[in-house]
Amino acid sequence: MEKIVILTGAGISAESGLGTFRDEGGLWAQHRIEDVATPEGFARDPALVQEFYNMRRLQAAQAQPNTAHVALARLQRDFPGEVVIVTQNVDGLHEKAGATGVLHMHGQLDSALCSACGQRWPAPMRMTVGEPCPSCKTSTARPDIVWFGEMPYFMDQIFDHLVSADIFAAIGTSGQVYPAAGFVQEAAAAGAHTIELNLDPSAVVSQFDDTRFGPATRTVPVWVEELLAR
Ligand code: APR
Repeated sequence: MEKIVILTGAGISAESGLGTFRDEGGLWAQHRIEDVATPEGFARDPALVQEFYNMRRLQAAQAQPNTAHVALARLQRDFPGEVVIVTQNVDGLHEKAGATGVLHMHGQLDSALCSACGQRWPAPMRMTVGEPCPSCKTSTARPDIVWFGEMPYFMDQIFDHLVSADIFAAIGTSGQVYPAAGFVQEAAAAGAHTIELNLDPSAVVSQFDDTRFGPATRTVPVWVEELLAR
């Protein structure tokens, strides 16, 4: 049975109105990573960090999946093989489009995490500083987001998928953040056919067998149609 492993990044949600990180005017042009996306930043100013993720959580809650998310959910449903979606995104749009079993390697906006005991629970739309953990009752709640310097989630499962992939696709990611940017190398080394679908060439574009440039809402549905028509 053929297996397709798909990595998505912020670019797949751009046409749903959610900002990317490194494009012109992106999130990292508006906020310093060290202030809002590191454990040190959270320790220094938890209110600033909670506010940053409250803003993103509200935007994600109001966003709708676009035709690229919908096409991937259809591929999962109709492809006569296994389709695994690994996402760096935290916006939940893959699930809103009907995708299942999505591996959120950078966490999720709709989840809260207790720094003390590791308990997770559904995050309120607005998380406040000192939110008590429902389990250990300490007030060390944080957004369930993987920050720079922290280990991404599901890495063992992801590597197991990469080494058994027949096709690996990267969609809407700049290829500047590891370990995700190294996934194409893992998949290619294991014999997968690799394809990049991106608005612009990523930092690792040369490592792909095939590339499709353009907006995800155009390139992804075409690519999915081709796969389903084989
Ligand atoms: N269609 C397809 N690709 C697009 C579109 C679009 N409409 N708009 C932008 N892109 C592409 C850009 O060309 C860029 O290569 O999406 C990519 C977005 O890159 P980044 O902003 O770097 O986002 P991403 O690669 O997901 O970042 C990875 O970095 O800051 C961390 O945790 C954060 O998960 C994030 C990680």
